[in-house]
Amino acid sequence: MSKLSGDALEHRLEELLRTGSFPPPPEFAQNALWKDPSVVAQAEADPLAWWEAQADALDWERRWDTVLDWSDPPFAKWFIGGRINASYNCLDRHVEAGLGDRVAFHWVGEEGEARTLTYGWLHQEVQKAANALKALGIGAGDVVGIYLPMIPEVVVAMLACARIGAPHNVVFGGFSAEAVRERMEFSEAKALITVDAARRRGKAAPVKAEVDGHMTSLDRLEHIVVVRNTGTECPMTEGRDVWWDQILAAADPVCPAEGFDAEHPLYVLYTSGSTAKPKGILHTTGGYLTCAAYTHRHVFDLKPEQDVFWCSADVGWVTGHTYIVYGPLMNGATSVMYEGAPDYPHRAIWWELCERFGVTIFYTAPTAIRACMSWGAEEPNKHDLSSLRLLGSVGEPINPKAWLWYQQVIGGGRCPIVDTWWQTETGAIMISPMPGVTAAKPGSAMRPLPGITADVVDNEGNPISEGQGLLVIRRPWPSMLRTLYKDPDRYVETYWNRFGRDVYVVGDAARMDADGDIWILGRIDDVINVSGHRLSTAEVESAIVSYPHVAEAAVVAQSDDLTGQAIVAFVTPEEGLDTDGLDDKIREHIAEVIGKLARPKRIIWTHDLPKTRSGKIMRRLLRDIAEGRELGDVTTLRDPTIMASLTERIAARQHEED
Ligand code: WTA
Repeated sequence: MSKLSGDALEHRLEELLRTGSFPPPPEFAQNALWKDPSVVAQAEADPLAWWEAQADALDWERRWDTVLDWSDPPFAKWFIGGRINASYNCLDRHVEAGLGDRVAFHWVGEEGEARTLTYGWLHQEVQKAANALKALGIGAGDVVGIYLPMIPEVVVAMLACARIGAPHNVVFGGFSAEAVRERMEFSEAKALITVDAARRRGKAAPVKAEVDGHMTSLDRLEHIVVVRNTGTECPMTEGRDVWWDQILAAADPVCPAEGFDAEHPLYVLYTSGSTAKPKGILHTTGGYLTCAAYTHRHVFDLKPEQDVFWCSADVGWVTGHTYIVYGPLMNGATSVMYEGAPDYPHRAIWWELCERFGVTIFYTAPTAIRACMSWGAEEPNKHDLSSLRLLGSVGEPINPKAWLWYQQVIGGGRCPIVDTWWQTETGAIMISPMPGVTAAKPGSAMRPLPGITADVVDNEGNPISEGQGLLVIRRPWPSMLRTLYKDPDRYVETYWNRFGRDVYVVGDAARMDADGDIWILGRIDDVINVSGHRLSTAEVESAIVSYPHVAEAAVVAQSDDLTGQAIVAFVTPEEGLDTDGLDDKIREHIAEVIGKLARPKRIIWTHDLPKTRSGKIMRRLLRDIAEGRELGDVTTLRDPTIMASLTERIAARQHEED
């Protein structure tokens, strides 16, 4: 097929927008792992037997006695009595099967340097790192923080922790040092693994030096392990800080993988909730691994001997945990891992790497697709992308136009697209087309995977056969979060309180269409999804008001063509504060407290915020203003005139930007 761009492409996309659904190409369907929709009914007939069959794909040191204990909902236990080691399943079993030379990762650095990491190499490194951590006094149950860029050591560090039963707590590299401190404090981490500096667009950005000042107040933190990445000098505190390469060199190279209880914690990962305090999502071992391997294999139709898989997420998000590290490695896949940004050193770098490594399965976020669209089809068209056979999307609703662009320009019209819905909490993909079976509709995540039951319900919890409502999941599933770390009450309250203790409330609104397919509409709580990154309005507000002489702040989401949603902050200064030129300072301050990703796109200064007479900020009205919607009832406001003034301000701001 000839490659389209410009008007011809526009025309083609317009035409396709009228096409309702896209069945898998016959050749794909013939060779797919799932060819027959009857697996859904099979799983439904006996869900526990279905999950047992999936768990049997892993290597257990001891098989479980009971598949599920759901006697105390919402606290689930899966594969009770089973013992398993995550790193054994990712590495040893492949090496023992003679696959030590298989490539686990084609790693590419920002400057184009490449490293080939085999299963055998990872196996050796992980054993050394595991012993090195043990020598620092870290054992089963001790939390280890990981704050690393997309370098091979991040995978080694995660698997070394898993090998010795030390739950990892990875913090995305885009979060600030203060956010790292907070996450180390909440999880009572005993060690932190970080880096001298990270490469960002050709420069070395100091990391250890930044982190250092924030770590002094943590009583529980005994060690900081520093990976030498760029050779940038950094302060090292004697007795506390050690170099990664030195402790690995001194470590015993053999560390046998010991089986842990299926319910042993594998990791905590912090995500934003509706309060300023992030939630520590706790995943345990057996169930999480079961779903990670199952979904990675079937949703991506993986043939490990032939495929080259690339999930472009960062390891610091759950997508990276499940679909860069655990899923692909358990399945013996060969993956690509890229250190840099999608537009560094140039805007065709992803496609250059797809061509170079013959990538067959590519998984990314709608924001990235929209960014690529805005850079033009000419960039991907420079490369031969004919190796691709399946595309995936995750993290936010994908608009049909971006879906079609992805399908046409990247997939050459021949690749099925799996729009996968899931969450940090669910651990693995829950709703997605079955690539060899489903006729996918652009913009719909379609149906729950075999073994999962999802519903759209009204405010009373009654299923809606057609229309909008709340998305819920009805049955426990193996990779469900087990609790919020050290906060079981908040776990119950956040997810299981609305319709009874056995209905998981997702926090997303969704629409069920007449065919029974699900369209995710977005969050219903105070969470903003910027470029697929979850941010809590309360967390951003609390960062803003911690700036000197800011009186009050209210943060809402505004739709954005590129990032899905953008942050708008309405901020009230204390009397006498000169707000001229203050926007950038506030943004910088937020970058320090949370990270650059939380900086508002727009800051609107105002002497007051719309409040009820009892003083509650009416965010609903602020959302209406931000979206330019007709304003609803304002009569309950303490000062109704405030609305007109805010509407004017936001319009003026948008006008300036245009
Ligand atoms: C959103 C990312 C629409 C949703 C794996 C969810 C999606 C939140 C999709 C979880 C999708 C994720 N279509 N929306 N395919 N996938 N979301 O925890 O709002 O970072 O609740 O996990 O992202 O984000 P999280």
